[in-house]
Amino acid sequence: MSAPRISRRQLLRTAGAAAAGVGLGGLRPAAAQAIADDPVLATESMMGVPYEARDVVRVGLVGCGRRGHSLLNDLLGIEKVEVRAVCDVNPAHAASAQDLCQKRKARRPEAYTDGERHYEALVRRDDLDLVYIPSPWRWHVPMAVAAMEAGKHVAVEVPAALTLADCWKLVEVSERSRRHCTMIENCNYGYEEMLVNRMVKAGLFGELLHAECAYNHDLREILFENDSEGLWRRAEHIGRNGNLYPTHGLGPVAWYLGIHRGDRFDHMVSMSSPEAGLSAYRQAKLAAGDPRWQEKYDCGDVNTSLLKTAQGRTIVLQHNVSNPRPYDRINLLAGTKGIFRGYPERIFFDGHAGKHKWRSLKEWKSRYEDPLWTRLKKAASKSGHGGMDYIMSWRMVDCMRRGLPPDMDVYDAAAWSAPGPLSEMSVAAGSAPVKFPDFSRGRWRTVRS
Ligand SMILES: NC(=O)c1ccc[n+]([C@@H]2O[C@H](COP(=O)([O-])OP(=O)(O)OC[C@H]3O[C@@H](n4cnc5c(N)ncnc54)[C@H](O)[C@@H]3O)[C@@H](O)[C@H]2O)c1
Repeated sequence: MSAPRISRRQLLRTAGAAAAGVGLGGLRPAAAQAIADDPVLATESMMGVPYEARDVVRVGLVGCGRRGHSLLNDLLGIEKVEVRAVCDVNPAHAASAQDLCQKRKARRPEAYTDGERHYEALVRRDDLDLVYIPSPWRWHVPMAVAAMEAGKHVAVEVPAALTLADCWKLVEVSERSRRHCTMIENCNYGYEEMLVNRMVKAGLFGELLHAECAYNHDLREILFENDSEGLWRRAEHIGRNGNLYPTHGLGPVAWYLGIHRGDRFDHMVSMSSPEAGLSAYRQAKLAAGDPRWQEKYDCGDVNTSLLKTAQGRTIVLQHNVSNPRPYDRINLLAGTKGIFRGYPERIFFDGHAGKHKWRSLKEWKSRYEDPLWTRLKKAASKSGHGGMDYIMSWRMVDCMRRGLPPDMDVYDAAAWSAPGPLSEMSVAAGSAPVKFPDFSRGRWRTVRS
């Protein structure tokens, strides 16, 4: 499955040259023809493929829970977006999303609430360009696949997939259907993340060496509520032991390091601490006889992974949602000329006065603030997560309207989600190294902006 494939364009060039006796790539005409005839080897990449430009972006929303409402609220504040349909197994959630549209003076979208596969009818509508999927994790892949098969572009929540087979499925369906599957990793659009990324691209950190990132967020209350994520997310801690939510920390780091733009994740090792946090919380909060006393949590509270890239860089990736602690995505980047660390933000460059004194990122704001933030700061200020959610959706719509390629493609979705299953494999094997599949099929070497 991970065998390198070449693009149709390369193939035609190769076959043509071979037929002319040039022997490009060392292929004889028969061999080139055999590749051209192979539907798997001849698959074309979705890397750098632009959206078809359009004036209005027509959206369907599958999953109208807490996140769905927040994303919907942002979409309703973006010019030239029309939300045509919403879907949820819970009719009250879908109705609430419909009401929100009307309250915001938009048209009332049609609702699909007839069971857990009714999204299949939504994606078949002929008046949708893009399907947003903020559903529970186990529904991401079936919903994204159905939408792409029905000819719609996809914006799927994080993590995009929970198994390597499903990561590959997203890649293969995206390539076959020629539809984009973007994992909507909002943290890539954070103010600091975008600012630091511009400083990286301007060469301020020198040669990049190492990064650290995490999702360290005390979710105990949410995991045990009888609503929203409490209904499905705690179950992920049963039967799985690894990093259950790798992309919020890893996405921005992948942009800094140019993953699939000159580098790629090569292999990783992972280890988990004991599980204690959810058990202790249950002990403190739940009455005797509560059915949740039957549950056995397998996921260690603190999972720490170490990733190595093809260019030799190292990344520490952590996950902890089970213990009392302040929120922290770490967001550290170190290079030969300097180092940045978030939470709280601080920066140091070679030659700074005061050898061991951090400085504030604010000093670089006027020069390196991302133009998206400069332009949209005011509109974004009312949106979730400090405004990055609005910037992310605005940019997605902008790319679709202007006919640009998406910032994040299906190869990013697969590679950033893969540490989930890979950490489970490594933990189960006593922290043995595990290889990342090359979802890009060798195309990661091309440096793109
Ligand atoms: N990027 C972020 O910052 C961020 C923040 C929160 C949640 N999320 C992600 O968003 C997703 C949703 O999380 P949430 O907090 O909204 O959870 P939620 O439980 O509040 O919402 C999920 C919704 O999906 C519906 N649903 C379940 N199965 C369905 C099906 N088969 N068909 C249609 N609807 C179905 C549920 O009824 C519910 O309304 C998750 O993937 C989560 O990881 C991302």
